[in-house]
Amino acid sequence: MAEIVVTRNLPEEILAPLHEVGETWVWGDDRPIPREALLEAVRDARGLLCMLTDPIDHAVLDAAPQLEVVSQMAVGVDNIDVAACHRRGLKVGHTPGVLTETVADTAFALLAAIVRRIPEGERAVREGAWGPWSPFWLTGGDLHGMTLGIVGMGRVGSAVARRASGFGMEFVYSSPRSEGPGRKLGLDELLRVADAVVLCTRLTGETRGLVGRPQLQAMGEGSYLVNVARGEVVVTDDLVAALANGEIAGAALDVTDPEPLPPDHPLLGFPNCLVTPHIGSASEPTRRAMAELAVANLVAGLRGETMPAEVPWR
Ligand code: DGY
Repeated sequence: MAEIVVTRNLPEEILAPLHEVGETWVWGDDRPIPREALLEAVRDARGLLCMLTDPIDHAVLDAAPQLEVVSQMAVGVDNIDVAACHRRGLKVGHTPGVLTETVADTAFALLAAIVRRIPEGERAVREGAWGPWSPFWLTGGDLHGMTLGIVGMGRVGSAVARRASGFGMEFVYSSPRSEGPGRKLGLDELLRVADAVVLCTRLTGETRGLVGRPQLQAMGEGSYLVNVARGEVVVTDDLVAALANGEIAGAALDVTDPEPLPPDHPLLGFPNCLVTPHIGSASEPTRRAMAELAVANLVAGLRGETMPAEVPWR
């Protein structure tokens, strides 16, 4: 098998630098590589370019005794057992920075859509339910004047904060380790004061299940939840219950747990729940930049050079 394994079909011109470092094998499909095929493919691999859909765990690492570098085409690396990689002396790369503004744009698109009831309006038009103009039909909230609660003041959180100012919003944030502009609050207080909460945090042991029923109830019936982080930050069944009981005004989710969300999932039964299929970073230039950075990380790592974006050793 090849020295370099790429788990998804990426444009050949982006993969070209890999050929100078070693023989490269690419999973030639647009769907995730099946587990068995991955275990087989990595047998002789020194470098692995993977996606957030590939669990990189002990079994994969055991199957790849020559592995030196794991390079993910995403900023989040919760699918990778990073600690296990580091214990084995492997370098792990990811793609921070290049997707920040695009994900923040998506967060704002979702926020505007859910607050102004755009999906409901669009559906009504398509379904022939658009009657004469009506004073209070499909009235939603306002973005301007809102207090936005940003959970996670990393790169994306900061970019969301910049947009909030431009939209005439107040914003507050909670973030255990980062500092940012605006007022820093504990999560409980943020949930109480915010009209909309945007989740921008990494998925870690601490943030898994961070937003469950008590947090949704604390937000209150006039408030909105937007998630561009990871689905597992929210307890899905609790969100379903909160929406069913009118405990929040609406939710807009680019990420869900599970993912993909089956079409008959209860979340999709609520008109005030907007779900998009994990497309936060999916602008053409940004996805190309992510792929290029993942390739650059892998090339540098395999050459023993400093990777442009290495996941820090802890
Ligand atoms: C990431 O990079 O972690 C994003 O979720 C991909 O869009």
